[in-house]
Amino acid sequence: MEFKYFTFQELDSTNAEAIRLYKLGKIKTATVLRAINQTHGRGYGNNLWESEPKKNLTFSIACFPANIEPSEQFVLTEIISLSLLKVVSGIITKEKVSIKWPNDLYVNNKKIAGVLIQNFINGRKIDFSVIGVGLNVNQEVFVSDAPNPTSLAIVTKKHFVIEDLANKILQHFTTYMHQTDNTEMLKTIHNSYLTNLYKRGIPSLFKDKNGIFNAIITDINNFGQIRLTTEHGTERTYGFKEIEFL
Ligand code: BTN
Repeated sequence: MEFKYFTFQELDSTNAEAIRLYKLGKIKTATVLRAINQTHGRGYGNNLWESEPKKNLTFSIACFPANIEPSEQFVLTEIISLSLLKVVSGIITKEKVSIKWPNDLYVNNKKIAGVLIQNFINGRKIDFSVIGVGLNVNQEVFVSDAPNPTSLAIVTKKHFVIEDLANKILQHFTTYMHQTDNTEMLKTIHNSYLTNLYKRGIPSLFKDKNGIFNAIITDINNFGQIRLTTEHGTERTYGFKEIEFL
């Protein structure tokens, strides 16, 4: 996949800019928008994404995944998470790097990256997709109430060239994207996502609207819902935000 590449010195949010440009008809092919300083980064719901100016990687991939059906859209979550995992686990080799469902990247029990995907669906097609990535790189102090943030610099005590990281993530993303029209490869991607899932197979505490319980993550279904088996053997399925890891 060939990308057009736009770098902005300052932007409220790369996702918001991608959507604005798309609505103005100014994005017609796969485009990467990167902000050196992102002032109002968005997370899921009303969350904000903290990023000190010039210290982190904040970018969005705006693309037209014509061969992915809306019912298969979770694969976009899987491939961006796996692309991040490959790059970060290539750098941090002595700690456990995993994907916290649905698409946070964790180093041990701390969050190093987050992803915000916004899909525009028209009938049986994904018209347009914005895949926003925030990777904490050289920032060493976090001031927001984001739970457990960490960065490459905190973990490794080294500094990194942000652009190189973006290029590596995009290379992996492109490779995975080419695999999405092959059913066998889709299964391989899904298995690799499952294998690298945070707390998979480990009895852990979760909280849903009825309270706290002990369970094991057993699977993620095609719709991206998490499947758990409780300590009493009951199977439960949850969508994003219907369950919390404790
Ligand atoms: C989350 O974990 O809540 C998702 C955070 C996603 C942050 C990235 S930074 C680049 C892109 N632009 C945004 O406004 N958000 C995403």
